[in-house]
Amino acid sequence: MTQQQQTAGGDVRLVGISKTYGSFIAVQPLDLTVPQGSFFALLGASGCGKTTTLRMIAGLEEATTGTVLLGEKDITDLPPYKRPVNTVFQSYALFPHLDIAENVAFGLRRRGIKSVKKQVDDMLELVQLGDFARRKPHQLSGGQQQRVAVARALINHPQVLLLDEPLGALDLKLRRQMQLELKRIQTEVGITFVHVTHDQEEAMTMADTVAVMNGGRVEQLGAPADLYENPRTTFVANFLGTSNLIEGEIVSSGTDLVVAAGGGKLTLPRERCSAPTTSGGRLLLGIRPEKISLAHADDADDIAAGRNRVTGRITDSSFIGVSTQYVVESPAGTALQVYEQNVDRRAGLLPGAEVVLHWNPAHTFGLDAAQDIDAGATSVEDAE
Ligand SMILES: Nc1ncnc2c1ncn2[C@@H]1O[C@H](COP(=O)(O)OP(=O)(O)OP(=O)(O)O)[C@@H](O)[C@H]1O
Ligand SMILES: [Mg+2]
Repeated sequence: MTQQQQTAGGDVRLVGISKTYGSFIAVQPLDLTVPQGSFFALLGASGCGKTTTLRMIAGLEEATTGTVLLGEKDITDLPPYKRPVNTVFQSYALFPHLDIAENVAFGLRRRGIKSVKKQVDDMLELVQLGDFARRKPHQLSGGQQQRVAVARALINHPQVLLLDEPLGALDLKLRRQMQLELKRIQTEVGITFVHVTHDQEEAMTMADTVAVMNGGRVEQLGAPADLYENPRTTFVANFLGTSNLIEGEIVSSGTDLVVAAGGGKLTLPRERCSAPTTSGGRLLLGIRPEKISLAHADDADDIAAGRNRVTGRITDSSFIGVSTQYVVESPAGTALQVYEQNVDRRAGLLPGAEVVLHWNPAHTFGLDAAQDIDAGATSVEDAE
């Protein structure tokens, strides 16, 4: 598609955007730039303000403060239908009495455009539903209906497509397929997608940039791998995957920090620490479960020098196919998580076994100890 509208436009910029309902602040004043043509995800637990933020971009919700810009254009006061923005919701809201082609054609018909066939065909081709044009929505699967909803929005050539949990109604396997499918569509049309989800895997799979929201604020923003490797808050460390967080006290501060924790000493690069690094200060050391190796306590002498070590006892192990997940009790933490890839099943790593956890100090990150160590560890969705 080479429509003028799609190459025009620019970044979506939110400047000091906030939303309050009475005395309740749903979205704290927020500055956010979504680069043109990027796949951007707003990720966070239920109620953190994702939909509200999206609706302010769409114009469906009036911002309490702040400005919404598209390129250089201030669109804050434009009604939704005058914004070059379309939204796909979780409930696709297809028209049940219209066939698929007419559902997709809807936006064009409403604007009085008569010859819609070519554009509708192109759109159905894009979402790989060319053979389904004459079916009614109830004759399609959930994933197919979802793609119709995307086609119906894209036919209007928006500069920005907003997607609010569009895959929420699909089962896990179909979700995974549709994630790749949506990513392909976005790459093909090249327009800006802003995708709202509470599923961290979904955000990381699809997005170029993820903004992690918590309590109406963006806690951290970055490329998925960067967020995962370098979380700067306990919320991000726990919400994006799993982190072991070990509390300790800084005993020496050079290029590396040496931290007394759990009766031993652990090391991490100072540059990977987002907290103050003065000697005597408290610190949370973070290490991802898959970066840790396990050794039987009897084999501890074989562990290479210079690695961080923690001694403990396995309290639980679960074999989940690609990996085995261990829970280890130790003075450094009562429930340290270790994921070991299933290359060779190893004998004897059973609950009760005395073990040494060891890892490369370079894989350790440091966080400010003045935060809630469990922030983001369980979300409402997990509990459901
Ligand atoms: N019209 C409203 N009046 C009062 N409070 C509202 C209104 N709309 C939303 N809220 C509140 O604002 C907060 C943010 O809501 P929002 O819908 O943006 O959350 P969300 O991140 O999209 O959550 P979910 O993942 O559950 O969809 C919530 O606490 C919600 O209860
Ligand atoms: Mg929502």
